[in-house]
Amino acid sequence: MPAVVIANTGDVPEFEGRITFNVIVCVVIAACGGLMFGYDIGVSGGVTAMDDFLKKFFYEVWERKQLAHENNYCKYDNKKLQLFTSSLYIAALIASFIASKTCSKYGRKPTMQLASIFFIIGVALTTFAVNIEMLIIGRLHLGLGVGFANQAVPLFLSELAPAKIRGALNISFQLFITIGILIANVVNYAVGKIHPYGFRISLGIAGVPALMLCLGSLAIHETPTSLIERKKVEEGRAVLKKIRGVDNVDREYDSIVHACEVASQITQPYHKLMKRESRPPLVIAIVMQVFQQFTGINAIMFYAPVLFQTVGFGSDAALLSSVITGLVNVLSTFVSVVLVDRVGRRALLLEACVQMFITQCIIGGILMKDLKITGNLPSGDALVVVIMVCVFVAGFAWSWGPLGWLIPSETFPLETRTAGFSFAVSSNMLCTFVIAQAFLSMLCHMRSGIFFFFAAWIVVMGLFALFLLPETKGVPVDEMVDRVWKQHWFWKRFFNDEQAVEKRETEMIRPHLI
Ligand code: BGC
Repeated sequence: MPAVVIANTGDVPEFEGRITFNVIVCVVIAACGGLMFGYDIGVSGGVTAMDDFLKKFFYEVWERKQLAHENNYCKYDNKKLQLFTSSLYIAALIASFIASKTCSKYGRKPTMQLASIFFIIGVALTTFAVNIEMLIIGRLHLGLGVGFANQAVPLFLSELAPAKIRGALNISFQLFITIGILIANVVNYAVGKIHPYGFRISLGIAGVPALMLCLGSLAIHETPTSLIERKKVEEGRAVLKKIRGVDNVDREYDSIVHACEVASQITQPYHKLMKRESRPPLVIAIVMQVFQQFTGINAIMFYAPVLFQTVGFGSDAALLSSVITGLVNVLSTFVSVVLVDRVGRRALLLEACVQMFITQCIIGGILMKDLKITGNLPSGDALVVVIMVCVFVAGFAWSWGPLGWLIPSETFPLETRTAGFSFAVSSNMLCTFVIAQAFLSMLCHMRSGIFFFFAAWIVVMGLFALFLLPETKGVPVDEMVDRVWKQHWFWKRFFNDEQAVEKRETEMIRPHLI
């Protein structure tokens, strides 16, 4: 039986219930999952820019950096260095498939506990790594943690939060990711001067949110949906009363029971997902993730310090610049929280495409004109690059960042929602892996062309959003099929099977009649 994802946004029915202390504690603890993920996105680029780290694990890269006639674009091009970043995402990809099963079978709470345990092991291995092998094995453990947490935490949040704050909470997961990235950037900047083990502090601090999640998840409740889904009906009702802080929870309880009944009839959600009528939300979920990654955001998030060193900043200035981009990322995510239900999803996505396209072209243009194979950019140019990176990150953070997750969570019908969402998570991990593994080599071979490469993707995703992405603002999740998909000029053809068959039959008969 698939796990049940309760509607995240839209006109969700109002049930009795206050935002109890219990709910707040649960939400804060679960948000640690977002911090765990974000911290790891931010930390790898920072330590990669630290000489002590390179000297210890990637000596050739450090040596190449020291050469007077170093090649600006290629000094970090090293497969193992990229594997350090990317290995996490390949493990997360595998874990996210397993996690959708453990979430259904054992619940969200043990899945989160498992995530934090993998994460703590990963932190210990990376912090005390004595060689590359230990470092990479540590990253793989972190990846398993991220994969389990990324499936369980959003599910946990959407099921536990009172209906009226569900939409905002969905985006707050993204907000915690960005805060995690920012904290990593700040820590990297602060410990960069501590020789020779500053990088170990950076890697070790990743254990804080994992430890909080681990301890916290011992204290939290399993979600009522998960309990009812696993036939612990009375316990489910009792937990619902406790977390809502009221005695009358009948309506919400009935709606959860109904949702679980519907879901239990679908014994093979993945099979159902492959059916023709599931194609529109499935394509949108996967494509949103592919496009999200091919904006080039993680080239910036992972490698900003390296990139800023490439354009001529010293190690310190490069780490400081990453703090600034990290801050822009957090603040701009708030813009999304405020605007997403007012101006709609499409307006934000389209505006951001224009903004991101222009900034990628300007960065590419400056590098093409002024950053030769050796030598630095003039300082004015380097400043413009940092500003453009900030404008780019702002555009991403109020659009494709949060909406890449929000849209797949609100467009599947209940029966395929969890299975469909796990496709979104794994597509994200796969594309993140590709970018992490390829970016530094692409930078070396394509030089400034890499920014035009991302700009070209942005044009494609803009056209996609313009013509193929329906607006879902304010549409109740359970009316998505009738009000959105069946009305859309392109996607409606996936729902008219009977009419289409009739039409085809008439067309086949007609020639004989003439
Ligand atoms: C993406 C991450 C990215 C982050 C940046 C998320 O939505 O999935 O890959 O690093 O946004 O804030």
